[in-house]
Amino acid sequence: MKIIMLGAPGAGKGTQAKMIADKYQIPHISTGDIFRANIKNGTELGQKAKTYMDQGLLVPDELVVDLVVDRVKQDDCANGYVLDGFPRTIPQAESLDAALAKFEDTIDYAINVEVPDENIVRRMSGRRACVACGATYHIVHIPTKVEGICDRCGKELILRDDDKPETVQKRLGVYHEQTQPLIDYYTNKGCLVEVDGTKDMNEVFSDIVDILSK
Ligand code: AP5
Ligand code: MG
Ligand code: ZN
Repeated sequence: MKIIMLGAPGAGKGTQAKMIADKYQIPHISTGDIFRANIKNGTELGQKAKTYMDQGLLVPDELVVDLVVDRVKQDDCANGYVLDGFPRTIPQAESLDAALAKFEDTIDYAINVEVPDENIVRRMSGRRACVACGATYHIVHIPTKVEGICDRCGKELILRDDDKPETVQKRLGVYHEQTQPLIDYYTNKGCLVEVDGTKDMNEVFSDIVDILSK
């Protein structure tokens, strides 16, 4: 099962992608997580990506396309994967399709997690993330057992640099301009499905499972 998560920043793509990956035993591939890991490790890719990410801008397509195309060719992706945060532009989507077409392959579902802009800023300021294992929490909706400490791996949680309210506004603008057109793109391909991302995260997940098991 090859799945793409679509939705605004903070819609819950990462939260749902992790649950899908666990249930269906397929890799969760988050380009945002890959960039953050590279920033943390001080790689050249991380340094390049950070200048864009901190401003709420997209990283240039050429820095992300090959990375994902190479990743989905690896053995653990043979039974599928869930892409989170990629594609984010029409050229990225076209590059992915072209790469899959070489193996007569296509995406099965593009899941659009719908959340209105008003809800987003509120969610983001409460988000806490674990850079060590990729887990995501929310100080109100999804709290950790010990404040500031990851339940899963025990490392310290961070507030992402790009979750400041003004940067979130910028990311929303970039989303509407560059990423929202993908909704039409995947509608035309016949694989777009939509879920209401304002529901509780477990309800959103059960809506997704219903769709995937049809
Ligand atoms: P990325 O890391 O992908 O960020 P994003 O798309 O802005 O999405 P987020 O991770 O902020 O939100 P999410 O939808 O995953 O929500 P989450 O589940 O965490 O990208 C970061 C940056 O990297 C980009 O801005 C760009 O610069 C660069 N980049 C990445 N990929 C790129 C690409 N392909 N091309 C170019 N540049 C790229 O949930 C949010 C919060 O809400 C959490 O606190 C969560 O606990 C909580 N929550 C989740 N679900 C619910 C719910 N149902 N109810 C209440 N709270 C909930
Ligand atoms: Mg995410
Ligand atoms: Zn952790």
